[in-house]
Amino acid sequence: MANPSLLILPGDGIGPEVMAEVRRIIDWYGEKRGIVFDVEEGLVGGASYDAHGTPLTDETMARAQEVDAVLLGAVGGPKYDVLDFSVKPERGLLRLRKEMDLFSNLRPAQCFDALADFSSLKRDVVAGLDIMIVRELTSGVYFGEPRGIHMEGNERVGINTQRYTESEIARVARSAFELARKRGNKVCSMEKANVMESGILWRDVVTEIHEKEYSDVELSHMYADAGAMQLCRWPKQFDVIVTDNLFGDLLSDAAAMLTGSLGMLPSASLGLPMANGRPKALYEPVHGSAPDIAGQGKANPIACILSFAMALRYSFGQVDEADRLEKAVDATLAAGARTADLLGPEGGTPISTAEMGTAILGALDASL
Ligand code: NAD
Ligand code: IPM
Ligand code: MN
Repeated sequence: MANPSLLILPGDGIGPEVMAEVRRIIDWYGEKRGIVFDVEEGLVGGASYDAHGTPLTDETMARAQEVDAVLLGAVGGPKYDVLDFSVKPERGLLRLRKEMDLFSNLRPAQCFDALADFSSLKRDVVAGLDIMIVRELTSGVYFGEPRGIHMEGNERVGINTQRYTESEIARVARSAFELARKRGNKVCSMEKANVMESGILWRDVVTEIHEKEYSDVELSHMYADAGAMQLCRWPKQFDVIVTDNLFGDLLSDAAAMLTGSLGMLPSASLGLPMANGRPKALYEPVHGSAPDIAGQGKANPIACILSFAMALRYSFGQVDEADRLEKAVDATLAAGARTADLLGPEGGTPISTAEMGTAILGALDASL
């Protein structure tokens, strides 16, 4: 059988720096576990704009549709702020998500024990935390029409539209219920049905799908603003949270801080199954290109490395190997390895991006 194929799009800022460490992990799996991937690299975001005048070429888009999984670093940066909206780096990422139809974005927030004292919340509140935010990723206000900026009389008006169809809500709800069955069997759905019609529909459809297909799973509903508060107050009350594109963006950044750093949070964006049975998939850290630390070897590569662990789990059926990689990260943190973002107020000496990669490779070796 042919090797599974990976398209790697390192992107901008710290993207290439953290992806370099993932490349070493991929090589380790080839050499030590006989799990060999056919890896190709491409450009996305500002890097693609610089080379081709577009944040994603049609050729790269076509390859993304063909490979077994895409791994992406991060896109964006101040250099590109002046560009026209249509060619901004972020448009490249949004095109990938939309054209691959990656409607279910899994953003886990797990607190590694070694970091429990580093969260901005008390140890009790975060120790042992393991929640999964399922963010709808291909619709809502990110893509709804009408949109744009136009003149009304003598002033400009900016317009975006929150729009959801029943089937868009139903498919992401199913994906959340399926995940919950394999975890703590609880789903909390978040919207603002108190002020938005799209929220009323969201709540109705999630409730219908639950009654008809998943009544064994415990379902609750929360307004997203109250959900944000509850996420900070007592996050362990949640198992799976399902929410729309924009609320999911905000809630997952907040959840990242529960775990200590944005540099820790991976994600998987999944679509429909391809002919080979694997879902269309893109894996990327939740964080961005971190222009403030780019080029300095300071970035934490763990979010990107854990995104590859999610690829092993969700695209390649290598659940034991995904566990092995996650445990290697845990062991590395327990041994005291810290990039700068993981140092608490008491300080300490940070290690570099590459040193963190080396430490995790050491823990992988030790696992054999
Ligand atoms: P950001 O996530 O890039 O950075 C926020 C803060 O977190 C910064 O202080 C940064 O140094 C820190 N940080 C992020 N990742 C880190 C890591 N791995 N290790 C250590 N520290 C880390 O968010 P931002 O500053 O709001 O956005 C910068 C650019 O990235 C923007 O152009 C934005 O659009 C883009 N962005 C891209 C993605 C993506 O590619 N998926 C996600 C978010 C933001
Ligand atoms: C994320 C990012 C993206 C989003 C941007 C870069 C398009 O913030 O992946 O969380 O808003 O979805
Ligand atoms: Mn975001």
